[in-house]
Amino acid sequence: MGIERVIDTSIHEDDPEEKAVEFSLRPTTFDEYIGQTRLKTNLKLAIDAAKKRGDVLDHVLLFGPPGLGKTTMAGVIAHEMNANLRVTSGPSIEKAGDLASILTNLADGDVLFIDEIHRLRRAVEEILYSAMEDYKLDIVIGKGPAARSVRLDLPKFTIIGATTRTGALAAPLRDRFGHQFRLEYYQEKDIQKIIERSAGLLETKIEPDASKMLSTRSRLTPRIANRLLKRVRDYADVNSDGIIDTATATAALKMLEVDELGLDPGDRNMLKLMIEKYGDKPVGLNTIAALTGDEASTIEDFYEPYLMQLGFIQRTPKGRVVTQAAKDFILRS
Ligand SMILES: Nc1ncnc2c1ncn2[C@@H]1O[C@H](COP(=O)(O)OP(=O)(O)OP(=O)(O)O)[C@@H](O)[C@H]1O
Ligand SMILES: [Mg+2]
Repeated sequence: MGIERVIDTSIHEDDPEEKAVEFSLRPTTFDEYIGQTRLKTNLKLAIDAAKKRGDVLDHVLLFGPPGLGKTTMAGVIAHEMNANLRVTSGPSIEKAGDLASILTNLADGDVLFIDEIHRLRRAVEEILYSAMEDYKLDIVIGKGPAARSVRLDLPKFTIIGATTRTGALAAPLRDRFGHQFRLEYYQEKDIQKIIERSAGLLETKIEPDASKMLSTRSRLTPRIANRLLKRVRDYADVNSDGIIDTATATAALKMLEVDELGLDPGDRNMLKLMIEKYGDKPVGLNTIAALTGDEASTIEDFYEPYLMQLGFIQRTPKGRVVTQAAKDFILRS
């Protein structure tokens, strides 16, 4: 904990440069948004249909591991709908009244993006039900016997919810989203395109072999691809002529200790500990956290999804199991 890992899929919030770069690299249209073809095809159709009817787009739920482009997609949707985008997040809405005021301040056609929607408080969530379904706001005025409930009309809007954990979303809330999409890990060739697009925006020259190499080590995740690109660019600026070729990329990745699968010493250490101490037996998440010194939620949200995608870890009802593929890889490395 506390050590900044390059392959960490969370945004490094306290790094102003990273936030600025992430913002500047964010695609704003469907054409710029690379990959996620199924998501784009379905959304394009829904947006065209809504526009044709002169209606708002039905509410959209985006879920999937961090850094795959949920926030980015919310921006793209608003842009493609020619709508205003308002942004909030589950944990930042403290009281039902806070949400009521956000909703009453929306204009017709607005898009409200609620990040980390699984972290909405219960009382806040309940306000959303009738708001999403009927565009009505039920509020209680007064206290005790004199209390009465009033129904206010709201403008028509679209809510886009994003979550890394669908399981954590209550069914009544989930069911109110007409569109629900899981963001998938990207294909390597798409990650390579993202790297090349970002390099262009950052005015950095990168050779195709080098962008290909970076794409295999980016955990199939755009955020990590962009972060690796930035680090490798820094290395090239200092140690060579600034052009990223495979030699520079190899040296930089070696310095960053990111291996050919995109794993770092933290991942390898976690797998090693699980193999040494538990072998084929399942290990509980909290035990893993105690072994590595990470928070259980950090492992669950940021490190484990890619290890599962690789087929290195399996989730069973009794805990996490390291697979033979992981054992082979760790033995070889
Ligand atoms: N399809 C894409 N094409 C090009 N770049 C992308 C794409 N998706 C994401 N990115 C880049 O990756 C970065 C991270 O994406 P984004 O912030 O949207 O992820 P997220 O799913 O919202 O993550 P989190 O769960 O942490 O909120 C963006 O700044 C953007 O530059
Ligand atoms: Mg996001």
